[in-house]
Amino acid sequence: MSINVRFPAYRTRRLRQNEAFRQLIRETTLTVNDLIYPLFVRHGRDLRNPISSMPGQFQFSVDQLLKEAREAHGLGIKAILLFGIPEAKDEVGSEGYHRDGIIQRALKSLKDALPELLIVTDVCLCEYTSHGHCGVVKGGYVDNDATLELLARMALSHAEAGADMVAPSDMMDGRVAAIRESLDANGFVTTPIMSYAAKYASSFYGPFREAAESAPAFGDRRTHQMDPGNALESLREVYLDVTEGADIVMVKPALPYLDIITRIRLEFSVPIAAYNVSGEYSMVKAAAERDWIDGDKVMMECLLSIKRAGADLIITYFAKEAAGILRES
Ligand code: PBG
Repeated sequence: MSINVRFPAYRTRRLRQNEAFRQLIRETTLTVNDLIYPLFVRHGRDLRNPISSMPGQFQFSVDQLLKEAREAHGLGIKAILLFGIPEAKDEVGSEGYHRDGIIQRALKSLKDALPELLIVTDVCLCEYTSHGHCGVVKGGYVDNDATLELLARMALSHAEAGADMVAPSDMMDGRVAAIRESLDANGFVTTPIMSYAAKYASSFYGPFREAAESAPAFGDRRTHQMDPGNALESLREVYLDVTEGADIVMVKPALPYLDIITRIRLEFSVPIAAYNVSGEYSMVKAAAERDWIDGDKVMMECLLSIKRAGADLIITYFAKEAAGILRES
C-alpha cells in the first residue's frame, strides 16, 4: 500500500541524519567551564570518609581536600563550593565565623596550593548549630534579623581567609544586603555574592544532610525556604536579591525546577546558577548501580537539560565525572 500524504517542504530529519549535522546545529552544549564542584571538609588528617547516601562523594580532611581539588582543577574545573563540618556545634554556630574554623583553615591551605582555583563558600549556619537550623532560634522559630548579623560575620570571615565568592544558602530576608554591607565596609568590594535566591523547601536535600551532618533536630525549613508550589514568588526572590547586590542568583534544586530557571532567564539578565542537588545525584547513582540506566549518559543529559533551561552555571557532584567525559569528547 502506498501512502500518499502531503508533506510541507520542510523535513526536520534532514539535519539529524548524521553526527556532523547534529553538532552543526546543536543549540546547547555543556562545557567544563559551566561546572562548580561541591566538596565537604572536616577536621582531622588523612580522612576521606565515604558518604553512604552519595556514592563517590566524601568528607575530606584538609590535606585530602587539597588532593581532590587539585585533581578537579587538573580536569579543567574552575571553581569548587565548600561546605564545612565543625568540631563542635552550639546554639549560634560559633565555628562558622571563627577565624580558625574548618572552612577558614581549608581556605588558607587551598589558596596557598591552588591560587587559581576559585573557592566559593556556602554561608549558612545549619552545619554549625546544635539544633541544625539555619539561624538563631527563638521560641522554635528562626529569628531572621538576629541571624543576619551572624551571616554577615561568617561571610566576612570567609573573605578574610581567602574565599573568592560567598554563597548564602540560608534564605533569610535581607541577608544579601547585610553581607554586601559587611564585605564592603571591610574592603572586600570585589568579592561577589552568589545568592541561593530561589531555594525550595525540598526533599531532594536528604543525602546532603547526612553528608553535612546538618539535619534540623526539630521541625523543618519551610518557614524560610520556598514552597514548591510557587513560581512567581521566585521572581520576587530574585528581584530582591539582585536589588540587594547579588552578582549571581541560584535556583535549587535544579531538575524538578527547570521551569523556574527558564522563567528567571526570561525576566532577568543576571547570571543564573542551578544546584543539581544531592538527591538528584543519588537517584542517578542508585539506578545506575542496578544497571537500570546508563549512569554516564543520564548524567550528561541531566546537566545538558539544566543548561538548556537557561542556567549559566551548574553546581554538581558530577563535576569531575562530567569533566572527564567532556575531555574525551
Ligand atoms: C544549607 C544547604 C543545604 C544544601 C546546600 N546548602 C541543605 C538544606 O538547605 O537543608 C543542599 C545541597 C544538596 O542537597 O546537595 N546550608
